[in-house]
Amino acid sequence: MNWSGKIVLITGASSGIGEGLALALAKKGAVLGLLARREETLRELAEKCEKAGGIARAYPADVTDPSTIAEAFEQFIREFSTIDILIANAGIGGNDEATRSYHPPSVKRIVDVNLIGAVNAVHAVLPKMLEQGHGQLVAISSLAGYRGLPKSAAYSASKAGMTAFFESVRLDVRGMGIDVTIIHPGFIKTPLTAGRHNRMPFLMELDDAIPMFIKAIEKRKKFAAFPWQLATIVRAGKFMPSWMYDRIAGRARYRE
Ligand SMILES: NC(=O)c1ccc[n+]([C@@H]2O[C@H](COP(=O)([O-])OP(=O)(O)OC[C@H]3O[C@@H](n4cnc5c(N)ncnc54)[C@H](OP(=O)(O)O)[C@@H]3O)[C@@H](O)[C@H]2O)c1
Repeated sequence: MNWSGKIVLITGASSGIGEGLALALAKKGAVLGLLARREETLRELAEKCEKAGGIARAYPADVTDPSTIAEAFEQFIREFSTIDILIANAGIGGNDEATRSYHPPSVKRIVDVNLIGAVNAVHAVLPKMLEQGHGQLVAISSLAGYRGLPKSAAYSASKAGMTAFFESVRLDVRGMGIDVTIIHPGFIKTPLTAGRHNRMPFLMELDDAIPMFIKAIEKRKKFAAFPWQLATIVRAGKFMPSWMYDRIAGRARYRE
């Protein structure tokens, strides 16, 4: 796939996976819309992307606010006329006591950012993609969305919801020229996982993970999951009877 001139909107572009994707795609000559809340960080990233060989614009916005996302997308389309790929990546971890004790406003916040934020982004771009008759929606979900994980009720629920949402969208847009790619990464070293003291199995370096995201997008895969070792375990867990799953998953301690 030739990324040169491909028009890509990335949510959650200001750090971690979003930032890594932005820089890697800029090097390949993509045109990037970078969306996140931290304006200054986004602007600096846009400059780096342009130095790396891409074209980049910063759109400071909160994904939980549908009108700001729609406005950012309007500005983007006014300048570039079309969109090839949306990468719905913005997300938060919910690795705190309030979320673990099922404090409803904290759980709602995780679902609002991780699930509704992605819904807002899809709602903003999909009509344009349908009008053009082409486009690709990419969801950065998580292996944590396959089944409920201990101490991760809000995060697991938000990612399971995200996966199901994008899968339903894929069925709805069949035959309309839109591809939907749902990516389920395991643990990757980013600000989201920084500060966790417990073992994160098969933790990946960001630089090793970025080419895997790009490969899944290029191949227009419907589902991708990596690293393969953790993906295999988690996929096996999906088919385990609950007594066996509880015994194995109940021992996980990585969110402490
Ligand atoms: N790292 C992992 O191990 C891992 C594994 C599986 C899945 N994922 C998923 O990958 C995605 C990226 O995570 P990451 O590890 O790269 O984390 P990260 O470095 O913390 O990046 C999260 C990004 O989301 C943005 N964001 C958060 N809340 C937002 C909001 N309300 N509106 C707009 N942007 C918002 C942040 O920017 P601002 O703060 O500037 O808004 C930031 O750019 C997340 O969806 C995460 O669930 C990560």
